[in-house]
Formats: sequence, C-alpha cells, structure tokens
Amino acid sequence: MRVIASYNIKGGVGKTTTAVNLAWLSSREGRRTLLWDLDSQGAAGYCFRVQGRAHGKRLLRGKSDAADIIRSTSYDGLDLLPADFSYRNVDVLLHDEKQPLNRLQKVLKPLKQDYDIVILDCPPGLSLLSEAVFRAADMLVVPTLPSILSLRTLKMLIDFRKEHAIKDLQLLAFLTMVDRRKKLHNDVIESSLRAQSWMLEAFVPYASEVEQMAERREPVAAYAPHGRAGTAYMALWQEVCKKSGLSPSPQSSRSC
Ligand SMILES: Nc1ncnc2c1ncn2[C@@H]1O[C@H](COP(=O)(O)OP(=O)(O)OP(=O)(O)O)[C@@H](O)[C@H]1O
Ligand SMILES: [Mg+2]
Repeated sequence: MRVIASYNIKGGVGKTTTAVNLAWLSSREGRRTLLWDLDSQGAAGYCFRVQGRAHGKRLLRGKSDAADIIRSTSYDGLDLLPADFSYRNVDVLLHDEKQPLNRLQKVLKPLKQDYDIVILDCPPGLSLLSEAVFRAADMLVVPTLPSILSLRTLKMLIDFRKEHAIKDLQLLAFLTMVDRRKKLHNDVIESSLRAQSWMLEAFVPYASEVEQMAERREPVAAYAPHGRAGTAYMALWQEVCKKSGLSPSPQSSRSC
C-alpha cells in the first residue's frame, strides 16, 4: 500500500482537485484506491457524493475502525473515508493523544491488504495533523501556483523537511492553474525551478472545466478526459507513478 498526500501549506491551490483526480485515475487503472478526506470542509467527499457522519473523532482516537466508516463511491475500486465537521478540531484531538504523529499511520495499518493506493486530501497549514501526514505518507504531491508567494511557501516546506530530517518522505511539486498568457507564469515555467529534481514536468493549466467539478460532482479527468485539464492530470499521474517507482498498473495499458 502506497500513501500519497495532496498537500500544501497554502490554501486554495488545488489540493482537493488533485486528490480527487489522482484517486480516480488510480482506481481507473485497477488499483484498489482509498481517498481519505482529512479536511473538515469535506470537499473531496462532496465531489464523490459521499458524506461523513461525525466519526472522525472516534476514528482518530482509535475507538472506531476505518473499515466501518469507509464508503464506496460510484466508481469501481474507489472508496472514500469521508471527513466530517469534527476534523476542524483535529489538532486539539491529536494533541491529547500519546503519540499524535503516529495516529494516521495507526488508522491505515489494518487497511494494508485492502488497498494499493491511499490518497490523502489534506487541509492547508503546517500543523500537528500535517506532521502526522508526513509520518503516514510515502510521498507529498504539492500543487503549486506559479506565483512568488506560492513558491516561497514551497521553499518553507522543503526547508521544514530538511530541518526535521524527513528526507524519506518523497516530495514532488507541480505547477497548477497555469495561465500561459501571464508573463510571470511563463517565466516560472522556463526558470531553473524546472531543473529541480522535486519539480515535475507535468503542469495543470488554468481551465474553466475544472471549476465545473463541484457542480458535476465528478473528477474532471472523468467527464473531460481529453480536455486540457483531464490530459494534464493524466500526465501528472503518470509522472507521479514513474517518479515513485510504482509498479505497472494491474489492468490498464494506459498505465504508468
Ligand atoms: N486548474 C484549475 N483551473 C481552474 N480552476 C481550478 C484549477 N484547479 C483548481 N481550481 C479551482 O480552484 C479552487 C480551489 O481548488 P481546491 O479546492 O482544489 O483547492 P484546495 O487547495 O483544496 O483548497 P483548500 O485549501 O481550501 O482545501 C476551486 O474552486 C477549484 O475549482
Ligand atoms: Mg481542499
């Protein structure tokens, strides 16, 4: 079981959009996939029409089993562990636990044989929950806007990873909401940043079809697979698979 977190310290950068699309792409290849919505906003669950029922607190305290809370989605091989409003206090909750940074890992452990891939949709911030995510995940996928402040935040994350010696945690960033009509966006794309080993070549353009996701409640890669965003997410997923050494997918010839 591989655990991939869609994470950024910054809010509104496309973490949920990424988690939802990568989870769908993973399941479409025949990988048994679980999407864990860790954000009390519940946006990932909303996109798949799955609602949480106030189990979060018990789950994180080890008093409920994830298997009892997991819901199936309308897509084969794609399950969802929904968030609920109790996740808004998740840091307080974790703080009261003995080994707060191990909590997510403990929740996932019994699911090891049930899933090939777990995708975590993380809330913004660099909190206790984030550190528990860093402990549980094999990889962070970091959607990054081509803006000065966004790149500055990415550097903060890279420094944090170095300072806290969590180098085992693979970090892959990619640019998203890219508008090639903007000079700054083009400058960032052409800059030395692209030469960094942690920066993926695939980038997601700013595309209005992505904004329809909340209305359609489906991943854009599902309803517009050949559109600019659908194609970009496919390329992103393939690159993530390649960089993380994920084995060829069980079913699809379009696999990575
Ligand atoms: N490539 C894109 N093109 C256009 N709009 C996009 C794109 N990616 C994301 N968006 C839009 O940007 C908004 C924020 O996206 P999303 O909810 O995925 O971000 P987030 O990082 O999960 O936010 P939060 O920090 O609140 O959890 C949404 O309205 C989404 O539809
Ligand atoms: Mg989100």
